[in-house]
Amino acid sequence: MGDCENSATHVLVTGGAGYIGSHTCVSLLEAGYRVTIVDNFSNAKPSVIDDINSIAGTNVALYTLDLRDKAALERCFDDNKFDAVIHFAGLKAVGESVAKPLEYYDNNLIGTIALLDVMKRSGVKRLVFSSSATVYGVRNPVPFSEEGAELSPINPYGWTKAMIEQILRDLAASDPEWSICLLRYFNPISAHPGGRIGEAPDGVPNNLVPYVADVAAGRREKVYVFGDDYDTPDGTGVRDYLHVVDLAEGHIAALEYAREHTGAEAINLGTGVGYSVLEIIHAYEKACGHAIPYQVTPRRPGDSAFCYADTAKAQRLLGWKAKRGLAEMCEDSWRFAKNLAANTKLYNNT
Ligand code: NAD
Ligand code: WQD
Repeated sequence: MGDCENSATHVLVTGGAGYIGSHTCVSLLEAGYRVTIVDNFSNAKPSVIDDINSIAGTNVALYTLDLRDKAALERCFDDNKFDAVIHFAGLKAVGESVAKPLEYYDNNLIGTIALLDVMKRSGVKRLVFSSSATVYGVRNPVPFSEEGAELSPINPYGWTKAMIEQILRDLAASDPEWSICLLRYFNPISAHPGGRIGEAPDGVPNNLVPYVADVAAGRREKVYVFGDDYDTPDGTGVRDYLHVVDLAEGHIAALEYAREHTGAEAINLGTGVGYSVLEIIHAYEKACGHAIPYQVTPRRPGDSAFCYADTAKAQRLLGWKAKRGLAEMCEDSWRFAKNLAANTKLYNNT
């Protein structure tokens, strides 16, 4: 990572109350940035703002609004002079996007277009966007590389990311003043080491690690392993799991890169290392100190055997590399899961 920008740099973080956004706000504040959050709290709890402030020992400004409410967004931009935007806000559940495609296209695309229009009118042309490895679909060879990939998502959620990437590339081509990083995250997991913020999905978790954490904490009976007949070393799916604090730091590296480079660049954020479902369960057992029951079930539709990143571009352009290994990811996740289980009043999600 290069030298940090000066403390006057003011960053608008859309979706800053969410899982990745809240960790990124903490990292930004700790690095001396000024932060304003926009969030509609459709998938976050207002108490997260107090947690962010308490961890970072400072105060973020908050605008509770939906990005599609352009008049409210314009007022937010009128009140402030932002230097850059990190755009996390969006819906992200793959299965839900198949059931409710219009909601996903409406929220993710219309929200983004409203944001870009207000940014353009305000002369704010530096943007870091949350894309996803899901844009690589199943037709590209692993490890997934940014160069030469044919974007072929296999669900509406993934298409919203691929479409927004295209909109951003077209925008950068139309006006050479834009600086845009399209960050393709692999599998973000874990939590801030303080155990106060982390991933707390409503209802039954869709993703592996929150589910394993629930089982470890005694909130669910066993983990269902979706298939053990893949062509992988132990037959279970292999993914590139990334500590959310490493991911947060990747956003600061991207902000700094975008300060000095115009155009639109797609960049993978992953570790380049793949772990299987069973390896995750066993690493988590070490972190929590007891066995985690599991049962193998049929494959989940749409899943692939392998997904992991070619990380060379992130290292070359951003000088960023994930630092935290699997044991640390599981320990930090477990600390947060224990707090969550102990504090059902605050997070009464199940
Ligand atoms: P999250 O749901 O925890 O955070 C998203 C935040 O955006 C929430 O706080 C939600 O309330 C807010 N939001 C949603 N729509 C909004 C709107 N129209 N206006 C204002 N606020 C709105 O999700 P996350 O895991 O932190 O993901 C952040 C971003 O990263 C998303 O765009 C997601 O698609 C992308 N991403 C996530 C993962 C992952 O595994 N978590 C992987 C790849 C990409
Ligand atoms: C990981 C592995 C499952 C749950 C998803 C999105 C992707 C991105 C990250 C946003 C797979 C297996 C899972 C369970 C299991 N999000 N599994 N039992 O599918 O790699 O990626 O999140 O952009 O777009 O698709 O993550 O955590 O759901 O699954 O066996 O209860 O764990 O089959 O091999 P995935 P995941």
